[in-house]
Amino acid sequence: MITVNFSPKVNENKAAEILREIARDKMGGWLNLPKKFDMGEFVRIKEAAKKIQDESEYLVCIGIGGSYLGHRAIIEALHPHSETKIIYAGNSLSRRELDRALEKVGDHDFSINVISKSGTTLEPAIAFGEFKKKLIEKYGELEAIDRIYATTDKRQGALHDEAVAAGYTMFVVPDNIGGRYSVLSAVGLLPMAVAGINVDKLLEGASEAVESVVEPATKYAWMRYELGKKGYDTEVFASFEPATMYFNEWLKQLFGESEGKGKQGVLPTSVIYSTDLHSMGQFMQDGRRNLWETIIDYPTDETNAKIVQAVRTAHTEGGILVLSIGMSSYDERGFGELIYFFELACAMSAKLFGVNPFDQPGVEAYKQELKKLL
Ligand code: PA5
Repeated sequence: MITVNFSPKVNENKAAEILREIARDKMGGWLNLPKKFDMGEFVRIKEAAKKIQDESEYLVCIGIGGSYLGHRAIIEALHPHSETKIIYAGNSLSRRELDRALEKVGDHDFSINVISKSGTTLEPAIAFGEFKKKLIEKYGELEAIDRIYATTDKRQGALHDEAVAAGYTMFVVPDNIGGRYSVLSAVGLLPMAVAGINVDKLLEGASEAVESVVEPATKYAWMRYELGKKGYDTEVFASFEPATMYFNEWLKQLFGESEGKGKQGVLPTSVIYSTDLHSMGQFMQDGRRNLWETIIDYPTDETNAKIVQAVRTAHTEGGILVLSIGMSSYDERGFGELIYFFELACAMSAKLFGVNPFDQPGVEAYKQELKKLL
Protein backbone atom coordinates (compact mmCIF):
# COMPACT_ATOMS: atom_id res chain seq x y z
CA MET A 1 0.00 0.00 0.00
CA ILE A 2 1.23 3.48 -0.86
CA THR A 3 0.86 5.86 2.06
CA VAL A 4 1.00 9.66 2.04
CA ASN A 5 1.27 12.05 5.00
CA PHE A 6 -0.95 14.80 3.56
CA SER A 7 -4.60 15.24 2.85
CA PRO A 8 -5.51 18.18 0.62
CA LYS A 9 -9.14 19.00 -0.03
CA VAL A 10 -9.82 17.07 -3.22
CA ASN A 11 -12.64 18.02 -5.55
CA GLU A 12 -13.95 14.49 -6.05
CA ASN A 13 -16.07 15.32 -9.11
CA LYS A 14 -13.16 16.94 -10.85
CA ALA A 15 -10.89 14.01 -9.92
CA ALA A 16 -13.38 11.54 -11.39
CA GLU A 17 -13.66 13.66 -14.55
CA ILE A 18 -9.86 13.75 -14.92
CA LEU A 19 -9.67 9.98 -14.54
CA ARG A 20 -12.30 9.57 -17.25
CA GLU A 21 -10.38 11.96 -19.51
CA ILE A 22 -7.17 9.98 -19.05
CA ALA A 23 -8.98 6.70 -19.76
CA ARG A 24 -10.44 8.21 -22.97
CA ASP A 25 -7.15 9.74 -24.10
CA LYS A 26 -5.57 8.08 -27.12
CA MET A 27 -2.33 7.94 -25.08
CA GLY A 28 -3.97 6.55 -21.93
CA GLY A 29 -3.15 2.90 -22.70
CA TRP A 30 -0.82 2.58 -19.67
CA LEU A 31 -3.81 3.06 -17.34
CA ASN A 32 -5.01 -0.54 -17.66
CA LEU A 33 -1.85 -2.07 -19.08
CA PRO A 34 -0.87 -4.05 -15.94
CA LYS A 35 -4.32 -5.66 -15.81
CA LYS A 36 -4.68 -6.24 -19.52
CA PHE A 37 -1.17 -7.26 -20.46
CA ASP A 38 -1.15 -9.44 -23.57
CA MET A 39 -0.04 -12.77 -22.09
CA GLY A 40 1.23 -14.04 -25.44
CA GLU A 41 3.56 -11.02 -25.62
CA PHE A 42 4.56 -11.56 -21.98
CA VAL A 43 5.62 -15.15 -22.69
CA ARG A 44 7.60 -14.01 -25.77
CA ILE A 45 9.39 -11.43 -23.63
CA LYS A 46 10.38 -14.02 -21.05
CA GLU A 47 11.51 -16.49 -23.72
CA ALA A 48 13.62 -13.83 -25.40
CA ALA A 49 15.12 -12.88 -22.02
CA LYS A 50 16.07 -16.51 -21.36
CA LYS A 51 17.69 -16.81 -24.80
CA ILE A 52 19.68 -13.62 -24.23
CA GLN A 53 20.80 -14.88 -20.80
CA ASP A 54 21.90 -18.20 -22.31
CA GLU A 55 23.86 -16.61 -25.16
CA SER A 56 25.23 -13.34 -23.83
CA GLU A 57 27.37 -11.91 -21.06
CA TYR A 58 26.11 -8.43 -21.91
CA LEU A 59 22.86 -7.01 -23.18
CA VAL A 60 23.42 -3.59 -24.70
CA CYS A 61 20.27 -1.56 -24.09
CA ILE A 62 20.10 1.28 -26.55
CA GLY A 63 17.54 4.01 -25.95
CA ILE A 64 16.98 7.45 -24.47
CA GLY A 65 14.40 9.14 -22.23
CA GLY A 66 11.35 6.97 -21.70
CA SER A 67 12.96 4.22 -23.72
CA TYR A 68 15.57 3.68 -21.02
CA LEU A 69 15.14 5.47 -17.70
CA GLY A 70 12.35 3.30 -16.27
CA HIS A 71 14.04 -0.07 -16.60
CA ARG A 72 17.38 1.32 -15.51
CA ALA A 73 15.67 2.73 -12.41
CA ILE A 74 14.31 -0.67 -11.38
CA ILE A 75 17.42 -2.65 -12.30
CA GLU A 76 19.65 -0.32 -10.27
CA ALA A 77 17.26 -0.13 -7.34
CA LEU A 78 16.83 -3.88 -6.98
CA HIS A 79 20.29 -4.93 -8.11
CA PRO A 80 19.19 -8.41 -9.24
CA HIS A 81 21.67 -11.18 -9.91
CA SER A 82 21.93 -12.33 -13.47
CA GLU A 83 24.96 -13.63 -15.33
CA THR A 84 24.01 -11.24 -18.13
CA LYS A 85 24.90 -7.65 -17.33
CA ILE A 86 23.17 -4.65 -18.85
CA ILE A 87 25.12 -1.92 -20.60
CA TYR A 88 23.36 1.30 -21.56
CA ALA A 89 24.10 3.21 -24.74
CA GLY A 90 22.45 5.72 -27.03
CA ASN A 91 21.46 8.22 -24.36
CA SER A 92 24.00 10.86 -25.41
CA LEU A 93 25.93 11.86 -28.51
CA SER A 94 29.26 11.73 -26.70
CA ARG A 95 31.81 9.76 -28.69
CA ARG A 96 33.77 9.19 -25.46
CA GLU A 97 30.76 7.58 -23.81
CA LEU A 98 30.06 5.38 -26.83
CA ASP A 99 33.70 4.23 -27.02
CA ARG A 100 33.60 3.32 -23.33
CA ALA A 101 30.51 1.19 -23.85
CA LEU A 102 32.08 -0.51 -26.90
CA GLU A 103 35.26 -1.14 -24.91
CA LYS A 104 33.34 -2.56 -21.99
CA VAL A 105 31.68 -5.13 -24.24
CA GLY A 106 35.10 -5.89 -25.70
CA ASP A 107 35.30 -9.54 -26.80
CA HIS A 108 32.46 -10.71 -24.59
CA ASP A 109 29.36 -12.34 -26.00
CA PHE A 110 26.57 -9.82 -26.35
CA SER A 111 23.12 -9.08 -27.73
CA ILE A 112 21.40 -5.77 -28.44
CA ASN A 113 18.01 -4.46 -27.40
CA VAL A 114 17.42 -1.28 -29.38
CA ILE A 115 14.42 0.62 -28.06
CA SER A 116 12.87 3.57 -29.86
CA LYS A 117 9.17 4.16 -30.32
CA SER A 118 9.61 6.69 -33.12
CA GLY A 119 12.55 4.76 -34.52
CA THR A 120 14.13 8.02 -35.63
CA THR A 121 15.82 9.42 -32.50
CA LEU A 122 19.40 10.25 -33.39
CA GLU A 123 21.25 9.25 -30.19
CA PRO A 124 20.06 5.62 -30.16
CA ALA A 125 20.27 5.39 -33.97
CA ILE A 126 23.99 6.26 -33.91
CA ALA A 127 24.79 3.92 -31.02
CA PHE A 128 22.82 1.14 -32.70
CA GLY A 129 24.83 1.59 -35.91
CA GLU A 130 28.09 1.18 -33.98
CA PHE A 131 27.03 -1.83 -31.93
CA LYS A 132 25.45 -3.51 -34.94
CA LYS A 133 28.77 -3.18 -36.80
CA LYS A 134 30.56 -4.79 -33.86
CA LEU A 135 27.99 -7.57 -33.71
CA ILE A 136 28.36 -8.35 -37.43
CA GLU A 137 32.15 -8.31 -37.18
CA LYS A 138 32.04 -10.76 -34.28
CA TYR A 139 29.29 -13.15 -35.35
CA GLY A 140 28.68 -12.57 -39.06
CA GLU A 141 25.48 -11.21 -40.59
CA LEU A 142 23.13 -14.11 -39.83
CA GLU A 143 23.95 -14.66 -36.18
CA ALA A 144 24.05 -10.88 -35.64
CA ILE A 145 20.43 -10.64 -36.79
CA ASP A 146 19.53 -13.35 -34.30
CA ARG A 147 21.06 -11.26 -31.49
CA ILE A 148 19.18 -8.03 -32.21
CA TYR A 149 15.92 -7.31 -30.40
CA ALA A 150 14.07 -4.21 -31.58
CA THR A 151 11.37 -2.64 -29.42
CA THR A 152 9.53 -0.10 -31.54
CA ASP A 153 6.32 0.99 -33.19
CA LYS A 154 4.06 -1.70 -34.64
CA ARG A 155 3.74 -0.09 -38.06
CA GLN A 156 6.21 2.66 -38.86
CA GLY A 157 9.55 4.37 -38.36
CA ALA A 158 13.07 3.71 -39.58
CA LEU A 159 13.75 1.13 -36.86
CA HIS A 160 10.49 -0.70 -37.56
CA ASP A 161 11.24 -0.82 -41.29
CA GLU A 162 14.80 -2.04 -40.74
CA ALA A 163 13.69 -4.67 -38.21
CA VAL A 164 11.07 -6.04 -40.58
CA ALA A 165 13.43 -6.06 -43.55
CA ALA A 166 16.31 -7.68 -41.64
CA GLY A 167 14.22 -10.07 -39.54
CA TYR A 168 15.15 -8.92 -36.01
CA THR A 169 13.03 -10.20 -33.15
CA MET A 170 10.52 -7.41 -32.55
CA PHE A 171 8.55 -6.17 -29.57
CA VAL A 172 5.94 -3.48 -29.76
CA VAL A 173 5.63 -0.14 -27.98
CA PRO A 174 1.84 0.09 -27.96
CA ASP A 175 0.35 2.94 -30.00
CA ASN A 176 -1.51 4.27 -26.97
CA ILE A 177 1.50 4.43 -24.62
CA GLY A 178 4.17 7.13 -24.76
CA GLY A 179 7.83 6.66 -23.82
CA ARG A 180 7.76 7.83 -20.20
CA TYR A 181 4.67 5.74 -19.41
CA SER A 182 6.10 2.62 -21.08
CA VAL A 183 8.27 0.98 -18.42
CA LEU A 184 5.67 -1.73 -17.77
CA SER A 185 5.48 -2.62 -21.48
CA ALA A 186 8.08 -4.57 -23.51
CA VAL A 187 10.22 -1.40 -23.37
CA GLY A 188 11.06 -2.09 -19.72
CA LEU A 189 10.11 -5.73 -19.26
CA LEU A 190 12.64 -7.27 -21.65
CA PRO A 191 15.76 -5.61 -20.19
CA MET A 192 14.46 -6.09 -16.66
CA ALA A 193 13.80 -9.80 -17.24
CA VAL A 194 17.29 -10.23 -18.69
CA ALA A 195 18.77 -8.47 -15.66
CA GLY A 196 17.00 -10.93 -13.35
CA ILE A 197 14.04 -8.82 -12.19
CA ASN A 198 10.97 -10.89 -11.39
CA VAL A 199 8.69 -9.26 -13.96
CA ASP A 200 5.68 -11.33 -12.89
CA LYS A 201 5.85 -9.78 -9.43
CA LEU A 202 6.44 -6.31 -10.87
CA LEU A 203 3.29 -6.56 -12.98
CA GLU A 204 1.36 -8.05 -10.06
CA GLY A 205 2.29 -5.05 -7.90
CA ALA A 206 1.28 -2.64 -10.67
CA SER A 207 -1.92 -4.53 -11.32
CA GLU A 208 -3.02 -4.28 -7.69
CA ALA A 209 -2.12 -0.60 -7.79
CA VAL A 210 -4.63 0.07 -10.58
CA GLU A 211 -7.28 0.24 -7.86
CA SER A 212 -5.36 0.73 -4.64
CA VAL A 213 -3.39 3.88 -5.53
CA VAL A 214 -6.20 5.99 -6.95
CA GLU A 215 -6.83 7.71 -3.62
CA PRO A 216 -3.21 8.52 -2.64
CA ALA A 217 -2.33 9.46 -6.24
CA THR A 218 -5.28 11.86 -6.38
CA LYS A 219 -4.20 13.47 -3.09
CA TYR A 220 -0.66 13.83 -4.32
CA ALA A 221 -1.74 15.34 -7.65
CA TRP A 222 -3.92 17.84 -5.79
CA MET A 223 -1.16 18.70 -3.36
CA ARG A 224 1.29 19.40 -6.19
CA TYR A 225 -1.21 21.52 -8.05
CA GLU A 226 -2.16 23.57 -4.99
CA LEU A 227 1.45 24.13 -4.01
CA GLY A 228 2.32 25.04 -7.60
CA LYS A 229 -0.48 27.58 -7.70
CA LYS A 230 0.71 29.07 -4.39
CA GLY A 231 4.08 29.82 -5.95
CA TYR A 232 6.07 26.75 -4.91
CA ASP A 233 7.70 26.19 -8.25
CA THR A 234 10.14 23.38 -7.36
CA GLU A 235 9.67 19.90 -5.97
CA VAL A 236 12.72 18.12 -4.58
CA PHE A 237 12.39 14.33 -4.58
CA ALA A 238 14.46 13.04 -1.68
CA SER A 239 15.61 9.48 -1.24
CA PHE A 240 17.82 7.95 1.42
CA GLU A 241 18.62 4.89 -0.70
CA PRO A 242 21.50 5.62 -3.10
CA ALA A 243 20.45 2.75 -5.37
CA THR A 244 17.30 4.70 -6.24
CA MET A 245 19.20 7.49 -7.98
CA TYR A 246 17.81 6.39 -11.33
CA PHE A 247 14.32 6.20 -9.92
CA ASN A 248 14.76 9.91 -9.20
CA GLU A 249 15.89 10.39 -12.81
CA TRP A 250 12.81 8.57 -14.05
CA LEU A 251 10.61 10.76 -11.84
CA LYS A 252 12.22 13.93 -13.15
CA GLN A 253 11.61 12.81 -16.71
CA LEU A 254 8.05 11.74 -15.97
CA PHE A 255 7.05 15.01 -14.33
CA GLY A 256 9.31 17.32 -16.33
CA GLU A 257 8.16 16.10 -19.74
CA SER A 258 4.55 15.61 -18.76
CA GLU A 259 3.96 18.88 -16.98
CA GLY A 260 6.51 21.44 -18.13
CA LYS A 261 4.69 23.06 -21.02
CA GLY A 262 2.55 26.09 -21.69
CA LYS A 263 4.70 27.89 -19.06
CA GLN A 264 3.13 25.63 -16.43
CA GLY A 265 4.21 22.93 -14.02
CA VAL A 266 6.48 22.40 -11.06
CA LEU A 267 10.20 21.89 -11.69
CA PRO A 268 11.17 18.40 -10.50
CA THR A 269 14.62 17.96 -9.03
CA SER A 270 16.14 15.39 -6.71
CA VAL A 271 18.59 14.59 -3.95
CA ILE A 272 20.09 11.43 -2.53
CA TYR A 273 20.78 11.63 1.18
CA SER A 274 23.12 11.43 3.09
CA THR A 275 25.44 12.42 0.22
CA ASP A 276 23.43 15.48 -0.70
CA LEU A 277 22.97 16.60 2.89
CA HIS A 278 26.56 17.72 2.49
CA SER A 279 25.85 19.73 -0.65
CA MET A 280 22.20 20.52 -1.35
CA GLY A 281 21.39 20.04 2.33
CA GLN A 282 22.44 23.60 3.09
CA PHE A 283 20.04 25.01 0.51
CA MET A 284 17.26 22.75 1.68
CA GLN A 285 17.70 23.80 5.30
CA ASP A 286 18.23 27.47 4.75
CA GLY A 287 17.87 28.59 1.14
CA ARG A 288 15.03 30.24 -0.82
CA ARG A 289 11.62 29.01 0.16
CA ASN A 290 10.18 28.46 -3.30
CA LEU A 291 10.36 24.68 -2.97
CA TRP A 292 9.02 21.72 -1.13
CA GLU A 293 10.52 18.35 -0.42
CA THR A 294 8.90 15.00 -1.24
CA ILE A 295 10.58 12.20 0.66
CA ILE A 296 10.16 8.81 -0.93
CA ASP A 297 10.12 6.74 2.18
CA TYR A 298 11.65 3.48 1.01
CA PRO A 299 11.57 0.72 3.63
CA THR A 300 15.10 0.86 5.00
CA ASP A 301 17.34 -0.30 7.85
CA GLU A 302 17.08 1.05 11.38
CA THR A 303 20.08 3.39 11.28
CA ASN A 304 19.07 4.88 7.94
CA ALA A 305 15.51 5.30 9.22
CA LYS A 306 16.89 7.48 12.02
CA ILE A 307 18.36 9.91 9.54
CA VAL A 308 15.07 10.06 7.65
CA GLN A 309 13.46 11.11 10.91
CA ALA A 310 16.22 13.61 11.75
CA VAL A 311 16.10 15.24 8.31
CA ARG A 312 12.32 15.43 8.32
CA THR A 313 12.38 17.21 11.69
CA ALA A 314 15.27 19.53 10.82
CA HIS A 315 13.79 20.53 7.46
CA THR A 316 10.32 21.05 8.89
CA GLU A 317 11.81 23.24 11.60
CA GLY A 318 13.76 25.07 8.90
CA GLY A 319 10.44 26.01 7.32
CA ILE A 320 10.28 23.53 4.45
CA LEU A 321 7.11 21.69 3.70
CA VAL A 322 8.03 18.00 3.74
CA LEU A 323 5.71 15.52 2.05
CA SER A 324 6.24 11.78 2.47
CA ILE A 325 5.29 8.96 0.15
CA GLY A 326 5.66 5.53 1.71
CA MET A 327 6.19 2.37 -0.30
CA SER A 328 4.98 -1.03 0.92
CA SER A 329 7.99 -3.25 0.24
CA TYR A 330 11.38 -2.73 -1.35
CA ASP A 331 10.96 -5.42 -4.00
CA GLU A 332 9.37 -5.97 -7.41
CA ARG A 333 5.81 -5.78 -6.12
CA GLY A 334 6.54 -2.58 -4.25
CA PHE A 335 8.18 -0.95 -7.26
CA GLY A 336 5.35 -2.06 -9.57
CA GLU A 337 2.97 -0.27 -7.27
CA LEU A 338 5.18 2.79 -6.92
CA ILE A 339 5.65 3.17 -10.69
CA TYR A 340 1.92 3.05 -11.27
CA PHE A 341 1.27 5.49 -8.40
CA PHE A 342 3.59 8.10 -9.90
CA GLU A 343 2.33 7.61 -13.45
CA LEU A 344 -1.23 8.17 -12.35
CA ALA A 345 -0.42 11.09 -10.06
CA CYS A 346 1.67 12.74 -12.77
CA ALA A 347 -1.02 12.46 -15.45
CA MET A 348 -3.62 13.85 -13.03
CA SER A 349 -1.37 16.65 -11.87
CA ALA A 350 -0.60 17.70 -15.47
CA LYS A 351 -4.32 17.71 -16.23
CA LEU A 352 -4.92 19.94 -13.21
CA PHE A 353 -2.33 22.36 -14.57
CA GLY A 354 -4.25 22.29 -17.83
CA VAL A 355 -1.54 20.73 -19.99
CA ASN A 356 -1.40 17.53 -22.04
CA PRO A 357 0.54 14.94 -19.97
CA PHE A 358 1.33 12.81 -23.00
CA ASP A 359 3.10 15.00 -25.54
CA GLN A 360 6.56 16.60 -25.52
CA PRO A 361 6.65 19.40 -28.11
CA GLY A 362 9.73 20.92 -26.46
CA VAL A 363 11.74 17.75 -26.99
CA GLU A 364 10.82 17.70 -30.65
CA ALA A 365 12.15 21.26 -31.00
CA TYR A 366 15.75 20.29 -30.15
CA LYS A 367 15.53 17.23 -32.43
CA GLN A 368 14.62 19.48 -35.37
CA GLU A 369 17.47 21.90 -34.63
CA LEU A 370 19.96 19.03 -34.36
CA LYS A 371 18.82 17.60 -37.68
CA LYS A 372 19.53 20.97 -39.33
CA LEU A 373 23.05 21.07 -37.83
CA LEU A 374 23.96 17.51 -38.76
O1 PA5 B 1 8.66 10.11 -22.90
C1 PA5 B 1 8.92 10.23 -24.08
O2 PA5 B 1 8.06 10.08 -24.97
C2 PA5 B 1 10.32 10.57 -24.54
O3 PA5 B 1 11.18 10.73 -23.45
C3 PA5 B 1 10.86 9.47 -25.43
O4 PA5 B 1 10.88 8.26 -24.72
C4 PA5 B 1 12.27 9.79 -25.93
O5 PA5 B 1 12.26 11.02 -26.59
C5 PA5 B 1 12.79 8.70 -26.86
O6 PA5 B 1 11.94 8.59 -27.97
P1 PA5 B 1 11.96 7.32 -28.91
O7 PA5 B 1 11.59 6.13 -28.09
O8 PA5 B 1 10.98 7.61 -29.97
O9 PA5 B 1 13.37 7.18 -29.42
